Amino acid sequence: MTTAAMLNGRATAPIESLLQEQRIFAPPAEFTATARLKSQAEYERLYRQSMDQPEQFWREMSDRLHWSEKPTVMCDWSHPPFARWFTGGKINASYNCLDRHINHGLGDKPALLWEGEPGDRKVLTYRQLHREVCRMANVLKAQGVKTGDRVAIYMPMIPEAAVAMLACARIGAVHTVVFGGFAAEALADRINDAKAVAVITADGGWRRGKIVELKKNVDAALAKTPTVQRCLVVRRTGQSLAMTAGRDSWYHDLVAGVSDVCPAEPLDSEHPLFILYTSGTTGKPKGVVHTTAGYLLGALLTCEYVFDLKDKDVYWCTADIGWVTGHSYTVYGPLACGATTLLYEGAPNFPDMDRFWDLIERYHVSVFYTAPTAIRAFVKWGEKYPQRHDLSSLRLLGTVGEPINPEAWTWYHRVIGGRRCPIVDTWWQTETGSIMCTPLPGITATKPGSCAVPFFGVDLAVVDRQGRELPPNVGGFLVIRRPWPSMLRTLYGDDERFKQQYWREIEPFYFTGDGARRDADGYFWVMGRVDDVVNVAGHRLGTMEVESAMVAHPKVAEAAVVGRPDELKGQALAAFVTLKAGAEPDESLRQELKAWVGKEIGAIARPDEVRFTEALPKTRSGKIMRRLLRDIAAGKETVGDTSTLEDYSVLAALRQDRE
Ligand code: PRX
Repeated sequence: MTTAAMLNGRATAPIESLLQEQRIFAPPAEFTATARLKSQAEYERLYRQSMDQPEQFWREMSDRLHWSEKPTVMCDWSHPPFARWFTGGKINASYNCLDRHINHGLGDKPALLWEGEPGDRKVLTYRQLHREVCRMANVLKAQGVKTGDRVAIYMPMIPEAAVAMLACARIGAVHTVVFGGFAAEALADRINDAKAVAVITADGGWRRGKIVELKKNVDAALAKTPTVQRCLVVRRTGQSLAMTAGRDSWYHDLVAGVSDVCPAEPLDSEHPLFILYTSGTTGKPKGVVHTTAGYLLGALLTCEYVFDLKDKDVYWCTADIGWVTGHSYTVYGPLACGATTLLYEGAPNFPDMDRFWDLIERYHVSVFYTAPTAIRAFVKWGEKYPQRHDLSSLRLLGTVGEPINPEAWTWYHRVIGGRRCPIVDTWWQTETGSIMCTPLPGITATKPGSCAVPFFGVDLAVVDRQGRELPPNVGGFLVIRRPWPSMLRTLYGDDERFKQQYWREIEPFYFTGDGARRDADGYFWVMGRVDDVVNVAGHRLGTMEVESAMVAHPKVAEAAVVGRPDELKGQALAAFVTLKAGAEPDESLRQELKAWVGKEIGAIARPDEVRFTEALPKTRSGKIMRRLLRDIAAGKETVGDTSTLEDYSVLAALRQDRE
């Protein structure tokens, strides 16, 4: 089946239901009065300039950053799809996030507010954070880490995680943060792909009152990673650990007595800042490469214009630093604009379901950014939890990660935002680096479920297969038609896959992998992925990745994994599995397979449902017909074309085996 057919097949329902969503929420006058952008005319002027005179626009915008050497050319697109931004420039991301503010008198302003799950707290001012970053950078240098080396970071949400990222940036080492929820196998794959020379980790982290044993996972991973020379371990949870001599060191031992002077390395604008792995349609995760200047400018500008961050704000993005949202909107963006950013280690329902609201009240959080899946959980837990707390410090709310259903949107607006806070529904991707489509909070009248209008410099469009722009309200492919500063530059070590994945489907545009429509007012409505990527609780998972893990189990012959709608998580994973001869399809194997995937990839990839089947529906050429499986998993009758199905009896059998 073509992607287009799939898109049309899946687009019908969301388009119809969303069209009934007529409510419009104008920005409150009190918000607009103090907002950075106050009028539609101002947005239009800047947007037009970014489209019509991009060199001039980006030259002006780039002045917000501190450069060791100013760039000469803003965008070099002479070898598409390989863009170069701000060429000739020399810059350092850590300098821009720290030294620049200290030099402007903000040294004593809190940069990081941190709370651990057990309730322990720490505040780091810009000066203190700078000091910690310099010391860790000196430790890395002493351990032999050099500019351009890759360093894997596998950490709980503690200040040292942000310190580690900025320390790498300071010396030009390229960090690759691996989400602490990933298992040893997934960690080893990422380390090996990036050929990391060092790992920064912790003994463990706290999650729902229990220790997540990070160092144990690192030990299992490092048995398979020949490139790793050094492993630095931050003490967090305090349990005793096995340390491998010659490889592992306690960070507190290494840092004792180390100088806090470490000049930031001036780096080329295009020097890679980080690699972040994300799921694609094949089993192998993609190492998305972001470079220094363009990425940082994207993160900075969106924090200023979309989150309207100002001096007095206390800003909290709930994403883990293992995801791109944590990179751009917990660490780099807020620090680049000199804001105060809150980091919380643990779960939202520990010790009780009001932990987030308690944090907002105690830290006087004014700008709050979270994901629809979290909001749906809050709705389910009930209003009594937020009602226990004074949330009047909030002035702006944000959401990201998947389409937000209008019910969750209006609940968020009413219960959390007290009807006075605008909501920015921000659409973007790991690959885009920063927010691409969003309301501007002082200007844009919001429509629940729509991510509104393109950000400056973003030439976003809904097109057909041939790249022709579609009329209002017709569903199509979401593309970006020109390069933007924070775009990914390639997939690490695989330029060819980069071209294939993003640039060949709808040439010559960047294809996002999402289906969308644009309404008559020019607002975008993203409908979700059109490929074999599912969005579970706001996290992208390639179904192929889960299938590969399944098939690696000795009793499994073949597996197909698809997404099905899920009230809480957006999508859940359903696995259809055929077993090798002699294996018993019983409940204990079902549980074993779920646990197996959890161990191979991590708990987020654990299938919600495993169905055993004698055979999978295939075309005559042997391709698994995933569309049929999606319908079956969703409990729907198959309406699509089944004429290429090889064996009809397979379908009937599949419907019977339910968990
Ligand atoms: O399908 C879109 C969905 O999340 C995908 C990007 O996932 P990831 O790279 O993991 O980054 C998530 C955080 C930036 C997109 O292709 N998505 C993200 N934000 C939205 C969204 N779908 C609808 N509305 C959004 N606001």
